[in-house]
Amino acid sequence: MSASARHADGEADAGARGGERFRIGLLGHGTVGGAFAVLLDERADEIERFNGQRPVISGVLTRSQGDFAEILAEADLLVELIGGLEPAREYLLSAMRSGKDVVTANKQLLSHHGEELFETAREQGVRLRFEAAVAGAVPIVRVLEESLSATPIERISGIVNGTTNFILTEMSAGSSYEQALAQAQRSGYAEADPSDDVSGRDAAAKMAILARLAFGTPVHLDEVSYEGIEHLHGDDMQYARELGLGLKLIGTAERRDGGLSVRVHPAFLYGGHPLASVVGPFNALTVESEAITEITLSGPGAGGRQTASAVLGDVVSVMTGGARPPAPPLALPLIEDVASAFYLHLDVADNPGVLAAVTQALGEHDVSIKSIVQRGLGENARLVMVTHAVRESSLRTAVDRVAEFDFVRSTPRMIRVIEEEFI
Ligand SMILES: NC(=O)c1ccc[n+]([C@@H]2O[C@H](COP(=O)([O-])OP(=O)(O)OC[C@H]3O[C@@H](n4cnc5c(N)ncnc54)[C@H](OP(=O)(O)O)[C@@H]3O)[C@@H](O)[C@H]2O)c1
Repeated sequence: MSASARHADGEADAGARGGERFRIGLLGHGTVGGAFAVLLDERADEIERFNGQRPVISGVLTRSQGDFAEILAEADLLVELIGGLEPAREYLLSAMRSGKDVVTANKQLLSHHGEELFETAREQGVRLRFEAAVAGAVPIVRVLEESLSATPIERISGIVNGTTNFILTEMSAGSSYEQALAQAQRSGYAEADPSDDVSGRDAAAKMAILARLAFGTPVHLDEVSYEGIEHLHGDDMQYARELGLGLKLIGTAERRDGGLSVRVHPAFLYGGHPLASVVGPFNALTVESEAITEITLSGPGAGGRQTASAVLGDVVSVMTGGARPPAPPLALPLIEDVASAFYLHLDVADNPGVLAAVTQALGEHDVSIKSIVQRGLGENARLVMVTHAVRESSLRTAVDRVAEFDFVRSTPRMIRVIEEEFI
């Protein structure tokens, strides 16, 4: 039975019982939209029991069925699960301009056109809900908007891409990047074209949305610096183990130097960090503030049914009047050059004086070494170091200088290290 046929029956049942109907126009009936329709069927009785209104799907739009204007006219609320920028943007703006509340799971759209959408919601006094756009079923949006609305947040950081976390988990068990990616594709965690995930761009879109929520400052996807996992090597994982570190793709939005830094990059974490133990396709977010020390939420970051449950939570929150229109923006300047500890991987000729030359070149740019592992490889040697915190620009200049030495045998690699250091 098609979703529309099924929901036509649902509406008839509700009408027969005489309950008030809350009409949902569903845009998109793919992985998440289809799961949403099924979940709504399963949960409608319970929602009606505590809310007095029965949620029903009053129309479904896909590429081959439905008419947007008719669906809009007949709905109390629109759920957008089409994805991409257009026509999703135009549909959401039209719905809000006609006074309808909207729910979306569309991270691309919010990270490109968030301010336009928030502004329209504010002007029209309607609700724009988007829990499923970040971290799937993990209820981070509601926690930031409601539970922590009176808490000055210093940092939000986390694993917001389950595909890359799955790949890194496989690599830490000994797989190469290529083997781990193929396994992720076979298990359905990575798409045929995984570039948005492995490049860090998907995580960057989510961090732009979280930064707006946590710090009130509009952040466009293009303002988030991101680096992916494609260039990580199996031996980075091996050294991580030797140094007692785990390797994750971490998104961070934090107050820094009077501004806001939003970034995504692979990072080594010490064993005690709350994100170090998150494995497989899971997502997790740590929120830090002087008032709360830290709170970590984790759970499934994707999947049709899991994401649909977050979408339905948003629908119920609108039905029960629990959500407000978005707050007006603040403006913290965006800071790009932030200090961090770094892991540095160098293959060099095994000659006397090499280590001294490297440490001197690093020292001239304020890079000091916290720990070092040296391993002989026949005529060559591998130096793996962890630095003390240093600005990224200083480290890059220092590493460029080191790369010029004729004893360096391959391009040096650097990965940030997050020390276990809460606000
Ligand atoms: N999948 C996940 O696990 C997940 C997790 C978190 C967030 N999300 C977000 O949820 C949204 C939906 O993702 P999905 O995985 O469900 O996508 P999907 O499986 O590709 O489904 C997209 C649906 O939208 C319809 N559609 C596409 N273009 C359209 C257009 N121009 N006009 C009308 N309908 C159109 C498609 O119609 P046809 O059926 O005719 O093709 C399909 O029904 C995205 O924003 C995504 O980022 C997904």
